[in-house]
Amino acid sequence: MATMGHPVRDTVDLKLRNQTQMNVAESHTYQLGEEQSVWFALTPLLKDPENPMQMLLKMSEKYGSIIPFNLKNQRIVFLSDVDHFKHVLVTSADKYIKNFDGLKPIFGKSMITIDGALWQKIRRPQQAAFHPQKFEEYFPYLIDAIDAKIDRWAGYAKNETTVEMVEETWTLAADMVCKALFDREMPFNPHFVFGAVKTYTDVMNHKSIRTKKVAGELEDINEENAAKAMETWGSIPEMVLNANSIEGRTNTLLSMLEDAEKDPEFPDFDRQQVIDEMKQYLWAGTETTALTLAWCLYLLSIHPEVTEKIREEADRVCGDRAPRWDEVQSLAYTRMVIQETMRLYPPIWALMRRAGEDDEIDGQKIQKGDTIIMCTYAVHHSTKYWSNPEKFDPLRFSPDRMKKRVKYSYLPFAAGKRACIGGALSQIENTLALVQMLRRFRVEYVGDMPAKIAPTVTLTPRSLPFRIHEL
Ligand code: HEM
Repeated sequence: MATMGHPVRDTVDLKLRNQTQMNVAESHTYQLGEEQSVWFALTPLLKDPENPMQMLLKMSEKYGSIIPFNLKNQRIVFLSDVDHFKHVLVTSADKYIKNFDGLKPIFGKSMITIDGALWQKIRRPQQAAFHPQKFEEYFPYLIDAIDAKIDRWAGYAKNETTVEMVEETWTLAADMVCKALFDREMPFNPHFVFGAVKTYTDVMNHKSIRTKKVAGELEDINEENAAKAMETWGSIPEMVLNANSIEGRTNTLLSMLEDAEKDPEFPDFDRQQVIDEMKQYLWAGTETTALTLAWCLYLLSIHPEVTEKIREEADRVCGDRAPRWDEVQSLAYTRMVIQETMRLYPPIWALMRRAGEDDEIDGQKIQKGDTIIMCTYAVHHSTKYWSNPEKFDPLRFSPDRMKKRVKYSYLPFAAGKRACIGGALSQIENTLALVQMLRRFRVEYVGDMPAKIAPTVTLTPRSLPFRIHEL
């Protein structure tokens, strides 16, 4: 470890296990909970029950912004400097391959997992669904989904029910994706599906013991549980496809996917591709949006003065009715609150790539097959880029302060050609949800303070229990 402060270093062996280096690039894709998965390998770094992310921050403070080390069978290079992010995501992006180790059961072979010419070909027919002009078409469906959630919350308020906020926001985000992008009522029980996804993603969080607390008892999460959960997950796209369309819209994301399937010039885009792309949207488009909204409500519960400003802005812009499409852009403060939430709690806390060839970053040799971890969380919390980084301060995102921001220091949606396709849409979804929910309810966080992070592939809270009160 003593050599870690030096700019050019040998690989550090964390001595978690003595292993020979394997050619990771040639290995098969591991399930999340398998020992060879990078996510499983990372668990020793994230096991501080108080704040597992602190370990990552301390690591970059102590050893610098490029840290190579061996974990389990893998050589990992941990990055936390904006110039290095730029190198991997933008300038030398072609040398680095997407690494979706362990996530194939969730995403199949959808575009988020693949690279090169095929990725480009698959993304092209979907791009139009995320053009800002389409958002106006989605708007009434987003409002419908929010109204349905609000009706449910009215019941919770009446019955004084305590709810897990991520489950609530996940089901809302899934409903929005089904309605707006697929023109379908959500044909599955979202709470059940949420549970299935969690059963799979939690496996890696429980390391070798692979146990999960169920009703206070430790229960074994074995391959069978994970496989069953993924079977449930795998049945969802067919359910959506077989559900009646809401309005027979012909230019939805779903119809774009089905058109690509029919295109004789595009044999790669088969039925399985349609299904996998749907899975990708139902997870990548819901989990991240849901985590942002849940963490945001947690922050607002602690900062009632910010909640009040959101209410004031909404009343000023829309009076006492729901926002109209042309008013969404004017809800600028609400958007800043969401942006600041994603700085403090970036749903994708690390971006993963695999070196496709030998390279060098800032004097550090990168070997073909290395796993590159770009820690968005570390950059978002670094005093190098942010003053008083632990402070919740939405006005950091005001236009004049944004001008002074260091480029690549804020990457909730990544950067470069593989940046998130749905980032802008998610901000509209969450802006509308916040405005509508907060003008009707007071949401009270009733869990431990501060809320604990239990990072999996995403920056998941251990628990965010809330009580909902009618205003
Ligand atoms: C707060 C909400 C969201 C966050 C924080 C987020 C974050 C990200 C990040 C960081 C990536 C890049 C991953 C990487 O490079 O390894 C990504 C990719 C992607 N996201 Fe999002 N996302 C959000 C919402 C959405 C929504 C609403 C959708 C669609 C409905 C979506 C669909 C996708 C897709 C399809 C990709 C893959 C793009 C490609 O590989 O070409 N995301 N997202």
